[in-house]
Amino acid sequence: MLRDLQLRNFRCFESFAAEFAPGFNFIVGPNGRGKTTILEAACVLLRLQSQRAPNLTPTVRAGRRSFVLSGHVEGHLLQFYYSALRRKLAFDGVEQREPSEYLRLARVVSFANHDLDLVRGPAEMRRRYLDFIGLQVDARYRPALRAYERALRSRNALLKSDAPRPRELEAYTEPLTRAGTILREMRAALVRQLLPNAEASQRAISGHGETLLLEYAPGNEEDFAAHLRRTRADEERLRLTTVGPHRDDLRLQVEGMSAAQFASEGEQRTIALALKLAQARIFAEEAGAGPLLLIDDIFGELDPARRNALLAHLPNDSQKLVTATALDWRTGKWEEALLKL
Ligand SMILES: Nc1ncnc2c1ncn2[C@@H]1O[C@H](COP(=O)(O)OP(=O)(O)O)[C@@H](O)[C@H]1O
Ligand SMILES: [Mg+2]
Repeated sequence: MLRDLQLRNFRCFESFAAEFAPGFNFIVGPNGRGKTTILEAACVLLRLQSQRAPNLTPTVRAGRRSFVLSGHVEGHLLQFYYSALRRKLAFDGVEQREPSEYLRLARVVSFANHDLDLVRGPAEMRRRYLDFIGLQVDARYRPALRAYERALRSRNALLKSDAPRPRELEAYTEPLTRAGTILREMRAALVRQLLPNAEASQRAISGHGETLLLEYAPGNEEDFAAHLRRTRADEERLRLTTVGPHRDDLRLQVEGMSAAQFASEGEQRTIALALKLAQARIFAEEAGAGPLLLIDDIFGELDPARRNALLAHLPNDSQKLVTATALDWRTGKWEEALLKL
């Protein structure tokens, strides 16, 4: 559980502090007050990455160079300092060179309106979903992903140059295939683990026994090195690496039909929600303790009955930070803490 959180120079806040209860914490206020920012600060403190921005540059308060976040999680003090030039992590007051110990402490699931992009958006959205989970459950995920991204960047830069030498290309192909093969195995395992959880979540929230099928669609063939050799002509023509995990996708089907093409908007929202609930269930399985759920203003599109049903379906053993512009629609009795902005 996240007991408290302090922000300095993080987005709209020069200085801000809050305390949280186990169970439901509602954060209420008009648009632009910093509700999403508080959830983001919790996510960045716990996972060193934002649930809404691909990197941390935009989270530094305008006109400042760095931010500091701190808070107590499971009785431990986490501190994170960030500037464009350096990052510092401390666990119980001891500076950490490696993030692994720090990151072992807590897991986060974020629910937001842009989750609909998981179903409708490009494959990149679904890769980021898988990565966000993988980075939290498997210590080998981060090094493999970073190594793959690095090798891909270098290899593509070389392909862009005039007449790249085969020897040079080979020097990047080797780390690319090594990291890519590990990444593919981990993503495949992740999808296998997600499948029954997503199916169960979808059945529970759709209310009419629909089956949701997830299928991993790798961006390269089993023998990655051989596949790269066969696509050399394409690489030369397009000047980039055309196959590999950076082309992976996660196929979503409901009742045998593509969710992106055939599901209604309401159904697509249900599918996105099922994917996030599946993520929460995996974390509960893996870590034994429920993840922190960040639930950001997702009620706008739902009628009051569905809003209350959604809250009722959230895992009991998880702490929840829930933002909303108003709370007058709630019917259930929630044990709660209320933060007004
Ligand atoms: N880096 C930044 N520096 C200063 N202000 C920022 C920065 N990033 C975002 N903001 C501002 O923070 C405010 C709060 O944003 P947000 O947390 O999304 O509000 P809410 O979720 O309550 O609608 C917005 O007015 C936005 O313009
Ligand atoms: Mg918001």
